[in-house]
Amino acid sequence: MSREVIKIRGGSTLSGEVEISGAKNSAVALIPASLMAAEGEVVLEGLPEISDVNTLMSLLNDLNIRTELDGTVLKINADKAENMPLPNTKVQSLRASYYMMGAMLARFKKCVIGLPGGCPIGPRPIDQHIKGFEALGAKVTNEHGAMYLEAEELKGAKIFFDVVSVGATINMMIAASGAKGQTILENVAKEPEIVDVASLLNSMGADIRGAGTDSIKINGVEKLHGTTHSIIPDRIEAGTYMIVGAAAGEDYTVRNIIPTHMESLISKLQELGVRIETGDDFVKMTKPAKYSPVSVKTQVYPGFATDLQQPMTPLLFMANGVSKVTETIYPARFRHIDELSRMDGKIEQKSGSALIFPSNLKGADVYASDLRAGACLLISGLIAEGVTTIHNVNHIDRGYTDIVKKLQTLGADIWREEISDH
Ligand code: EPZ
Repeated sequence: MSREVIKIRGGSTLSGEVEISGAKNSAVALIPASLMAAEGEVVLEGLPEISDVNTLMSLLNDLNIRTELDGTVLKINADKAENMPLPNTKVQSLRASYYMMGAMLARFKKCVIGLPGGCPIGPRPIDQHIKGFEALGAKVTNEHGAMYLEAEELKGAKIFFDVVSVGATINMMIAASGAKGQTILENVAKEPEIVDVASLLNSMGADIRGAGTDSIKINGVEKLHGTTHSIIPDRIEAGTYMIVGAAAGEDYTVRNIIPTHMESLISKLQELGVRIETGDDFVKMTKPAKYSPVSVKTQVYPGFATDLQQPMTPLLFMANGVSKVTETIYPARFRHIDELSRMDGKIEQKSGSALIFPSNLKGADVYASDLRAGACLLISGLIAEGVTTIHNVNHIDRGYTDIVKKLQTLGADIWREEISDH
């Protein structure tokens, strides 16, 4: 059997421009939400070219929904959608399949679906999603690894979330759009992806107000219809390339971003000593001669994104003192540490945090345990001495459009290779 690895010879200085693709974590909600259009076509423009998009399209196809993907534009026609149970294998390959629950419940009042999978970054309960569906009047049961959701009618409700959750906030906006009456969501997440999903739903005929604030009001509507929507840029992909630029960039530009989405990262990189110039939809940066140590603590938006915690870590090895990373969203999201140790990165993990000591990374064979751990290893490989081989690259391809090509264009010595297991 052969499989693909990514190899990187570290040490190149990177320069030029990189263009950021559409947001993965928006796309994975926009695609399921589109199945609620009972009439007309939903056109999503600017989608990232990642395997999660293909998996969700295939789930829609299982419901007799027509999809047509041309580059970054996806056309979805759900006029003839039929409710079917969704098989486990596809559902389990991505976390965001939980959005199918909200969308199917709104459209069909019934959904049978496998338990959502996704990146192994520690416990990822969905109790807040279930609490929300039940508050809207659905009966939710879990039998033999599948979820059964059913409601005679969904009714608007007041829902106060116990934890701030991106997924539960989006799922309730989706489901409540198909409920009778008004739903009020309190203690919601404020991530830009939530605003993006609300704006798609509103242009499909929904009535959602307050997305991006602590409280969201949704007035249910009879029917949603087709529309055209352009997705926001991926702030995590942008952040990943900004960290690359901070580590190895000279005259280096990251384009097609919304700079206000990047504020917590920009200020952390400036604290490290990186010079950043911000334009309307781009940042220009050059790596500093020396880096100061910093403390990074992940928080809900607009705080430092948990999805950038792992990619940020390699940069901290370059500082002239000890840095600290504290993970408050997923305290077990540290599976990259063993791999960094193989590269001679000196790093100590304590519960929910890690101390990062100045180290010169060396190329090694390393394994991506999840998407952002994969990004962390790529960045480590770019700054390490010698060749790094990254295994399990399917995790990386789930979330980054053409990452090898984009880095090559910037001047990185990186390539894909087929290797055989024997
Ligand atoms: C989204 O996951 C993202 N995924 C994740 O990105 C991201 O890490 C996360 O938000 C936090 O920003 C998608 O958008 C598809 P949450 P989500 O519900 O919505 C707890 C990546 O690398 N919680 O906001 O599933 C949960 O355990 C991925 O791109 C409950 O306790 O995350 C966590 O501690 C990985 N009960 C916290 O809330 C629930 O019902 C925040 O999780 C739901 C969540």
